[in-house]
Amino acid sequence: MSMVNLISFEDLSDNRGGLVSYEESRNIPFPIKRVYCIYNVGSDVARGSHAHKELQQVAVCIQGSCTMLLDNGREKESIVLSSPYVGVYIGRNVWRVMKNFSKDCVLVVLASKLYDESDYIRTYDKFLNELKVGQDEER
Ligand code: TYD
Repeated sequence: MSMVNLISFEDLSDNRGGLVSYEESRNIPFPIKRVYCIYNVGSDVARGSHAHKELQQVAVCIQGSCTMLLDNGREKESIVLSSPYVGVYIGRNVWRVMKNFSKDCVLVVLASKLYDESDYIRTYDKFLNELKVGQDEER
């Protein structure tokens, strides 16, 4: 089974233009506490390179495209985001890197928590270590 969890959003566009809606509990699987946007990113820039202890997010590219690399410590997969109608769910303890941003890319991220630096895992070694601790605790 793929580790990439995609969510489809209904296309509400009509002859007046495009429309899509992201709604807590209806098509977003958590309470939306924060929305942030990433845009004007150079084509050679990689962003992300971190995981979160608790935060859940859905990322949707509402314009242009970018690549999202996801890594759960066992598998890595990448997905090209290029539609306002398809988002990728990013759960806890998933290392993510965003790259290959098109010049016009606007990436909207819906998040389950307010910004909290203490929720970040910013080094890959620490990420692997936290996964190991979690697995040991489950045993
Ligand atoms: P960061 O999450 O590291 O960016 P990215 O993962 O896209 O490369 O955030 C960059 C900076 O912005 C960092 O100092 C934290 C700050 N920040 C906020 O203050 N609020 C937010 O909602 C986000 C996402 C980041």
